[in-house]
Amino acid sequence: MAEITCIEDLRVLAKKRVPRMFYDYVDGGSWTESTYRANETDFQHIRFRQRVACDITRRTTETTMLGQPVAMPVAIAPTGLTGMQHADGEMLAARAAKTFGIPFTLSTMSICSIEAVSAATGLHPFWFQVYVTRDRSFTADLIERARRAHCSALMVTMDLQVFGQRHKDIRNGLSVPPKPTLGNILNIATKLRWCIGMLGTKNRQFGNILGHAKGVDSISSLVDWTKEQFDPTLSWQDVEWIKKRWGGKLIVKGILDPEDARRAVEAGADAIVVSNHGGRQLDGAPSSITALPAIVDAVGRQVEVHLDGGIRSGQDVLKATALGAKGTFIGRAMLYGLGAQGEQGVARALDIIYNELDLSMAFCGKTDIREVDRNILFKENRISDF
Ligand code: GLV
Repeated sequence: MAEITCIEDLRVLAKKRVPRMFYDYVDGGSWTESTYRANETDFQHIRFRQRVACDITRRTTETTMLGQPVAMPVAIAPTGLTGMQHADGEMLAARAAKTFGIPFTLSTMSICSIEAVSAATGLHPFWFQVYVTRDRSFTADLIERARRAHCSALMVTMDLQVFGQRHKDIRNGLSVPPKPTLGNILNIATKLRWCIGMLGTKNRQFGNILGHAKGVDSISSLVDWTKEQFDPTLSWQDVEWIKKRWGGKLIVKGILDPEDARRAVEAGADAIVVSNHGGRQLDGAPSSITALPAIVDAVGRQVEVHLDGGIRSGQDVLKATALGAKGTFIGRAMLYGLGAQGEQGVARALDIIYNELDLSMAFCGKTDIREVDRNILFKENRISDF
């Protein structure tokens, strides 16, 4: 196998090792995928200002996110079906994050349950993501489970109350577990490592939901439940309700507009995540990095502004930091590592991003990530001129 030197290498390997329907679920966006692509390409339009002859011997990427010390301003994003990229995926990714010293965020739509992840990480605190479901008692219950699992922050996702259409998922007949059609059987049969892993675990269903949500005790009732439960009436009052119930640090994710950012702060957010859901929802929405500066200007003095969408390298982390993000989230970059090589692959993804971040910061003449600001960006630049 060729040596892995960048996130793209992990993606290529994950594509070989993960069944098509789950790989495509990750490597896909809604409709024309224009926002999905823009998340990556808009980073490439931003250029650094190279500096020389600064003493760059001693460097640090350590900072804090939500008051928590982090080895670099990167956290793992909540991603659905992570345990379908690799057996026990959420447990492995959470462990890799703990070892590296960055936050891990577990999705409600995970395969491994919140309790399983907590046990796998030796009760190490992680962050937990919730949706506001029609059955509010289910959301309330998840909040209590997060508390019992020692989660140190709660994240509420605001942009998934209706679903962007993803052509690949429809064509592949995406389901958990996969339906035993001839096409699926033939494809999965070629993914031997994946199969062996899956045969060796009990975690093959939505662990936070099955057996917990009212009336969901079988796979078919789970499918109906998921279709119905994302509540389109979601309002800022719901966010206030979550903040009150939880009482701890609250991250509001899915913000692309400065006005919504202000509303989120009023509703009790301690941090917001500028996000277009990885280009999986509104196709035609701006890339996250393009939306970031105006939101930092609007609320950056009151709360931490974080960003997800398009981060595939340490250079991307540095650019987001320069434009005011106090932290970034990686979804796909982590999932490619996981699909390629399990826990070791996630650790590899984090090492790659760390090295790129550290060296790029040095090339810009900086030795401390906390001193990075818009001055490290080349001025003739469309986005940094915002
Ligand atoms: C869920 O959050 C998804 O984007 O599929």
